[in-house]
Amino acid sequence: MLAAFMRISLGLQLTIGLVLGLYSASGEGGGFDKAAMGKQIFLDTGLSYPPGLACLSCHRPEAAFADPRPVSSGAAEGRKGIRNAPSLMYAALIPGIAFEDIFLGDGTELYAWEGGLFYDGSAQDQFEQVQRPFFDENEMNLPDEAAFASRLRAAAYADDVRGLVGDQVWKDDSRLSYQAYRALVEFLKQPFFRPFDARIDDYLEGNVHALTEAEKRGLTVFKEDGKCADCHFLVANSWEKPLLSDYGYDNLGVPSRGAKDPGLGGRTNNVDELGQFRAPSLRNVSLTAPYMHNGSIETLQDVMEFYNKRDVEPERWGPTDYPATVNHDDMGDLKLTEQQVSDLVVLMEAFTDRSLLDMKQGEVFPKVPDGVPSTEEKRLYFPDWTHRLHPTFHSDSLKVD
Ligand code: HEC
Ligand code: HEC
Repeated sequence: MLAAFMRISLGLQLTIGLVLGLYSASGEGGGFDKAAMGKQIFLDTGLSYPPGLACLSCHRPEAAFADPRPVSSGAAEGRKGIRNAPSLMYAALIPGIAFEDIFLGDGTELYAWEGGLFYDGSAQDQFEQVQRPFFDENEMNLPDEAAFASRLRAAAYADDVRGLVGDQVWKDDSRLSYQAYRALVEFLKQPFFRPFDARIDDYLEGNVHALTEAEKRGLTVFKEDGKCADCHFLVANSWEKPLLSDYGYDNLGVPSRGAKDPGLGGRTNNVDELGQFRAPSLRNVSLTAPYMHNGSIETLQDVMEFYNKRDVEPERWGPTDYPATVNHDDMGDLKLTEQQVSDLVVLMEAFTDRSLLDMKQGEVFPKVPDGVPSTEEKRLYFPDWTHRLHPTFHSDSLKVD
């Protein structure tokens, strides 16, 4: 029955779904929809080689779906990547990669990379991103899509998937994989990943009591002497609420951790961009230690001291991978007082979503706070909505059997 509904046009499908009570506003209703399929895949430890590793293994609920280890362990014995797994909160809202042509107020024009998934922007959007962990030898380590599809067909939720995608897609490795990627993207767009229920949200909406006095002082440093808001935007830009990032790229000169990581420059082959990484959102940052693309800085106190005095006490931080491209204009010798530094550290707590803090021991996903709009309602806001133009889009994937 449900499978038949999925093949009707979206509008009609939703109408019927609502009438029958199959969907809730959060998309977490009783029906097995694309987001529910994505959730099963996200939790499934049978999709790696050897089995044992799921998305959830490296994106941990207690760390706002980041990895508390500096680098994660892969499925294959002894395999490790070189980057710290970032939070998945708000990840579906990261704009696609763009080489922006920016006109500044004073009439100058500058070009800069912005957006993209992964620290080096090597996935143009979320749809491209979700495919990579399955085939990365340092992550889930599958050899190819045939292996991926055959594992999906053997999964505990296989019957539900088959009912959802139809028999033709079910039998075709490439089309089944495509639907699995789409399902993961829908899952990452779920309202609980974008609750905007941190105290900073209340404050920016006009509740002056939402922040403590120390946090208010921290916010002033964040906007003024610290220059943080120049890159970690406090204004709404690509979404209707601030994401605390401009998703631009910079080389902060963070401490080396072994193998050099060329970052953006490795992708663009531009030597000026070596060692540059995409600025992350600071939402939930107090839950996501350790910090920076390589997990080289352990605490927020250390992060703030690094921004403040990197260039004053270089021996404390040691060598960095690409000294020639380090940004010395915006950071490194901010001349902040100890009070200002500690106020900044305190401010970070105000960026934590209450729904994450309210999670009980053993809960895997947070509850959706009241009033968070559904994915359907916000569909034009999500940067993935042009996925049909993607080279791997199979235009025949949606055909009825
Ligand atoms: C072995 C650990 C591991 C597994 C398993 C894993 N990830 Fe990740 N994930 C990472 C690391 C490390 C990064 C950062 C890599 C980079 O920037 O190059 C990352 C990055 C991401 C990002 C990009 C976030 C951003 O800010 O750009 C998303 C989204 C994501 N993973 C989702 C997933 C999904 C969905 C799965 C399951 C299909 C998954 N991950 C499985 C470790 C893992
Ligand atoms: C010029 C742009 C820029 C400015 C200004 C800036 N940041 Fe960042 N921030 C970044 C980039 C880029 C990264 C990621 C660097 C990396 O991983 O190598 C980052 C990373 C961080 C992280 C680590 C986040 C994580 O999840 O690992 C924190 C915390 C942070 N910034 C806070 C601040 C604060 C507080 C200020 C002001 C004192 C500030 N930033 C100023 C661009 C900036």
